[in-house]
Amino acid sequence: MKILGIETSCDETAISLLEINGQKIKIFKDLVSSQIKIHSRYGGIVPEVAAREHVKTIVRLLEQAKIFQKDFDIIAVTRGPGLVTSLLVGVETAKVLSYLWNKPLLGVNHIEAHVWSGLLGKNKIPKVKFPALSLIVSGGHTQLILIKNYGQYKIIGETLDDAVGEAFDKVAKMLGLGYPGGPEIAKYAKKGDEQAVDLPRPMINSKDFNFSFSGLKTSVLYKVKGIKLRERMLFDMCASFQAVAADVLVKKTIRAAKKYQIKTILLGGGVSANQNLRSSLQKEIKKLDKIEFKIPQIKYTGDNATMVALAGYFNYQRVKNKKELKDNWRKLTVDPNLEI
Ligand code: KG4
Ligand code: ZN
Repeated sequence: MKILGIETSCDETAISLLEINGQKIKIFKDLVSSQIKIHSRYGGIVPEVAAREHVKTIVRLLEQAKIFQKDFDIIAVTRGPGLVTSLLVGVETAKVLSYLWNKPLLGVNHIEAHVWSGLLGKNKIPKVKFPALSLIVSGGHTQLILIKNYGQYKIIGETLDDAVGEAFDKVAKMLGLGYPGGPEIAKYAKKGDEQAVDLPRPMINSKDFNFSFSGLKTSVLYKVKGIKLRERMLFDMCASFQAVAADVLVKKTIRAAKKYQIKTILLGGGVSANQNLRSSLQKEIKKLDKIEFKIPQIKYTGDNATMVALAGYFNYQRVKNKKELKDNWRKLTVDPNLEI
């Protein structure tokens, strides 16, 4: 089965064309057009600007990928969560294609797409052993999701304030670094000492699996307020902040893995590109007995349409009345606050 994936939930316009037969997967097209350069001028995403850019870009991408009616069987498009006007561009485009070309249409949850992104990269989709646990770390979300089976999700912990990516972005701004802040902090952290600055590890010992990153962000603010940052201090602050953020994420993930006797841990979302987080989590998982760790390739950590197509494929398998999907162009709506 060939799937066209479409993603426009935030500031990346992406389309993907792939084929899945059993466990075999072949990716034919995988295009991502990022708006980062445009938004970095404003120090963050401007929703109105993002939507306009999606409108300008989406048809150009379809044309560039040379996607026509005969090339695919179903369409999978992100319908939430995200910025409402950005989501509308992808969903309305998908509806037009579904109507004109008479194709089944599925709405995909963006977080669910990040959950499965760690399965991409080889020419086979690995079978997941359940129960599985997904750690989602992005600009808008920080969640621990317990997965009993494909499509059966339960959020067991999430951030009570800022998402971890948001904290990286805000701290970077305080330190006078560029946008997005995550890669900037990671770059500076390489030259710093992670023990140098004493920062709090919010909620690290709380019994639940929730997170909080706003106190950590504020303590960075207090430490740098009113002082002229020397280069060494900047490096050390980035290294210390990054290490503390990773530490909290790793500790809670490992604790949840033990409690729920998890067999597979999946990492996903923009912050999963962070090498420090990737290696600390890997190291701790290795200490546990026989837990498989699925980590996305760097190109699938950020927003892309290949993960949307994959999630759409999994969902399609469970749809009972597949014929109704051809009528979805009339019904599909966006939901900026969609939960997994
Ligand atoms: O998943 P994503 O591309 O978009 C959302 O759905 O939010 O995540 C974007 C977030 C940004 O906050 C960005 O700073 C962060 O991911 N990020 C990183 C790294 N690369 C991107 N954070 C830490 N380290 C990185 N290497
Ligand atoms: Zn995302």
